[in-house]
Amino acid sequence: MALRRTSSAQAPLAVLAVVSELYPFVKTGGLADVAYALPLALATEGIAVRTLLPGYPAVLAAAGDASTVHEFADLFGAPARLRAAQAAGLDLLVLDAPHLYARVGNPYLAPDGKEWPDNAQRFAALAQKAAAIGRGAMAGYAPDIVHAHDWQAALAPAYLHYGGTPRPRSVMTVHNLGYQGQFPQALLAELGLPPQSWAIDGVEYYGNIGYLKGGLALADAITTVSPTYAAEIRTPEFGMGLDGLLRQRADVVSGILNGLDTDVWNPATDPHLAQKYDAATLERRAANKAALQAQLGLASAPDALLYGVVSRLSWQKGLDLLLEALPALLHQGAQLALVGTGDAALEDGFRAAALRYPGRVAALIGYDEALAHRVQAGADALLVPSRYEPCGLTQLAALRYGCVPVAARVGGLADTVVDANEMALAADAATGVLFAPVTRERLELALAHTAALWRQPAVWRQLQARGMASDVSWAAPARRYAALFRGLVASAG
Ligand code: ADP
Ligand code: GLC
Repeated sequence: MALRRTSSAQAPLAVLAVVSELYPFVKTGGLADVAYALPLALATEGIAVRTLLPGYPAVLAAAGDASTVHEFADLFGAPARLRAAQAAGLDLLVLDAPHLYARVGNPYLAPDGKEWPDNAQRFAALAQKAAAIGRGAMAGYAPDIVHAHDWQAALAPAYLHYGGTPRPRSVMTVHNLGYQGQFPQALLAELGLPPQSWAIDGVEYYGNIGYLKGGLALADAITTVSPTYAAEIRTPEFGMGLDGLLRQRADVVSGILNGLDTDVWNPATDPHLAQKYDAATLERRAANKAALQAQLGLASAPDALLYGVVSRLSWQKGLDLLLEALPALLHQGAQLALVGTGDAALEDGFRAAALRYPGRVAALIGYDEALAHRVQAGADALLVPSRYEPCGLTQLAALRYGCVPVAARVGGLADTVVDANEMALAADAATGVLFAPVTRERLELALAHTAALWRQPAVWRQLQARGMASDVSWAAPARRYAALFRGLVASAG
């Protein structure tokens, strides 16, 4: 990792990020990528981020000889330690509480696939200690901002709010409104939430304690990960029950697009690829396509349009529609390479499709970082038919890798892909294919449109080149986060 120099002339600001997953140690989705890349990008804006996260085994292993900087006598039934470490180029504060976090595998789910029964305590503990550190529990550290990511960290603004002043400012970032963290009212006292927090303007949410609800109600500022999603979540269609609250707080809601770590995702240096390439050597992608087809047992067919999918398999991602549209895709002579994991029904559906269409459909059910890179470099187009998508990172990687995104016109997909309609093509602005509404019929039309574009090699190359020229880096988003943080601190006086 190259050292990134501070270029900002402004006074340094200290931010405590609070998050439940972090690439490259523990990752279930894009949240982990953002938690890793944003602090690195903010460093160039003069913002020093320390990241508080649970001491899962993989995190403690990476943190090596982390020193204990604080001890908590009792954290939901046992003592805990706060350990400071440098890992992956980040400044980490690891909440070492074996009774809560010494569990391998998925950070939220037990081996039986169900939520851990003590998730309420596990993530309240994280948020509670974030608020304590925010208030100076750790000697010599006084963050200006506590930045909570998603429901797992969302009680931090609530604990800060109910703890009185002085306190740091709080920012709640929503990566996905589909996961809210709701737990029984009976836990209120155990979680250390005061009686007055049981209110419509507190953590109460339809008779439960709503973690994300509390964070949204009580944070000083709310962000989400794209401008379009910021607008969508204020509507009943996308608000998932929280649109009323988000409309009420509209003056503090903003959408800041995610970036991509352009060192991790760089086709010119990517160690996972059969052949490295850049915009000037696009013809070298052919070797990656051939290698991908060979690795996955697809027919070696340079001229067949090869679609890739890299995704969690969940309702959000709309991949049930892809299963329905598969006959149409294959009828056009295309191939499909999917790497994904998630809902059993979807896993089974893609496994069955691969058996039914050998050589034309390949499904790697599992999590495979290297293969994700190879799909981006070897597939011709990346399918992202999401029903909703707060930002989406795979289409950003696709743009950078000259893999043409074919995506639903929702959320961050709408903000980052320019549809290849006649006007956009004429203006040389198009980077992919967008469709709406998210139905099987519209997906099939998008596949037909994509096939037509594929049959025009010059147009296809134009799409690839324009996509590769898009700025998908963290530079602009980091400036926006920095401006938000500085504004909050300034307005606090
Ligand atoms: P979400 O966070 O909703 O899952 P994003 O597009 O923001 O969606 O981020 C997904 C991230 O996880 C990307 O970095 C993507 O490459 C990665 N990913 C998803 N599924 C897999 C998989 N099965 N194997 C490897 N990487 C995956
Ligand atoms: C979420 C969203 C995804 C977003 C990611 C990182 O999991 O589903 O759209 O890119 O978080 O913000």
